[in-house]
Amino acid sequence: MKNTVNTLLEMKRNGEKISQITCYDYTTARLVEASDINMILVGDSLGMTMQGYKDTLPVTLDEMIIYGRSVQRACEDTFVVVDMPFMSYQASPEQALMSAGRIMKETGASAVKLEGGKEVCPQIRAITAAGIPVVAHIGMTPQSVHAMGGFKVQGKGEANARRVFEDALAVQEAGAFAVTLECVPPLLSEAITKKLDIITIGIGASKECDAQVLVYQDMLGMSPRTPKFVKTFANIGEMMTQAFNEYDKEVKSQAFPTAEHTFVKSDCSKEFLDELMEEYK
Ligand code: KIV
Repeated sequence: MKNTVNTLLEMKRNGEKISQITCYDYTTARLVEASDINMILVGDSLGMTMQGYKDTLPVTLDEMIIYGRSVQRACEDTFVVVDMPFMSYQASPEQALMSAGRIMKETGASAVKLEGGKEVCPQIRAITAAGIPVVAHIGMTPQSVHAMGGFKVQGKGEANARRVFEDALAVQEAGAFAVTLECVPPLLSEAITKKLDIITIGIGASKECDAQVLVYQDMLGMSPRTPKFVKTFANIGEMMTQAFNEYDKEVKSQAFPTAEHTFVKSDCSKEFLDELMEEYK
């Protein structure tokens, strides 16, 4: 079934949970498309997972478009959201609209995501007014890592909980159809999910959220460190290193390649090659 804004909102209304995973390349996107997962996020976390930066700040709009386009090429039914990177929307609603427009035109994705609460509502209004679906992102917002003093749980204590709650209401009012709640305590996430008509997507939040998202390298045991909220669903990282070592061993011992992996049938004769060698002596 093709996932759209309407089918996803219908799932929330019916109390059905929604799954989302990050993805950044065509090969992995094909595997996600073959699964039952509803949504892909081409997250700017690719700055860390694919590019090796220590945070997401260096990622550019052009880079997001390259990764987003590669993912979208593999997706028919999976709903693809592309992140708006740092400084591609903060300056003004006009800047946000132009950046979101480029993402939609050049990747073929179905929605964009941006970080922030009340302060980015003018941007959300401008983008949604142009017919582009928006996912908001509140709580721990990685693009503000320096302002937050690190990757820390947000919404602790009543004043902070009120701020996150009001941010959730504000982004809904501005027109977002979903909001990611990152590192927000469970009771607060649950209260926000009950209050909102739009979809809440939890990461380090609560199972009561309408949807969950994880970074795929984290849940497949491919990351050097995994945050507390991650569950390892398979140890693909270990399997890959094991396979690389087996390949290395077989190359060096000449166990690989065998006749089975070469084009023996179309080979030329030994006599011809002897003559060739002679000619080029
Ligand atoms: O960039 C990203 O992958 C994200 C998720 C962690 C929600 O924003």
